[in-house]
Amino acid sequence: MGEKTNIRLQIVYDNRALNENFQADWGFSCLVTGLEKSILFDTGANGKILLHNMENLGISPQNIDVVLLSHDHYDHTGGLETLAAKNPRVEVWFPHFFSGPFREKIQAIKTKPVPVEEYQEICPGAFTTGVISGWINEQSLVLSFSKGFILITGCAHPRITRIMEQVREKTQKNLYAVLGGFHLAGFEKNEILEIIQEFKNTGVQKAGPCHCSGDEARKFFLQEYGKDFLDLSAGKEVVFP
Ligand SMILES: [Fe+2]
Ligand SMILES: [Fe+2]
Repeated sequence: MGEKTNIRLQIVYDNRALNENFQADWGFSCLVTGLEKSILFDTGANGKILLHNMENLGISPQNIDVVLLSHDHYDHTGGLETLAAKNPRVEVWFPHFFSGPFREKIQAIKTKPVPVEEYQEICPGAFTTGVISGWINEQSLVLSFSKGFILITGCAHPRITRIMEQVREKTQKNLYAVLGGFHLAGFEKNEILEIIQEFKNTGVQKAGPCHCSGDEARKFFLQEYGKDFLDLSAGKEVVFP
């Protein structure tokens, strides 16, 4: 052991903001550092807000190695061009089925395109789930650290519990933490509580519903997880030691 491999997450973009230094806007983006590559998971909706929040988090766009796009919705892909203008060497990992116009955009900004289909390693300790099908197909990010696995989702359109199940199948381990957009707005209380129960039954220690998870879901997750609820918003940093 001895070698420090803390994984640090910085929420760059979210519907809510930590304080007045950060702008809230509908969308999601989270930077992962501490591994061989710095990975920006999604880019929010608006490049200006993305860069503003990055600056106030002390993140330099030039230091990002990989952008992983969860799915083809503007609130996750909208900041890409602005970011790529600051860092044209960034690799863009996107679900392989992305539309022609989106591919043309990637060509135009001259970043390195990496179409993703299957579960695969991005760098040691970081994996994409590959495309998981649902009413909207989506990829999520999986990180490995000393205590287990962390799952970060964009909108979780294929359903959060299904994504979790597929990750458990791949890793053969329980998930330690799950965070990101869970897409539970409009769900009934009972359905939300059932989902939280499944989190608990499958050993999830920390939960951080943000972005499109909905206020109700956030409330119930807080109630059930207490001090292990991750209250995430733009500007928030979480370290997994
Ligand atoms: Fe979204
Ligand atoms: Fe979405």
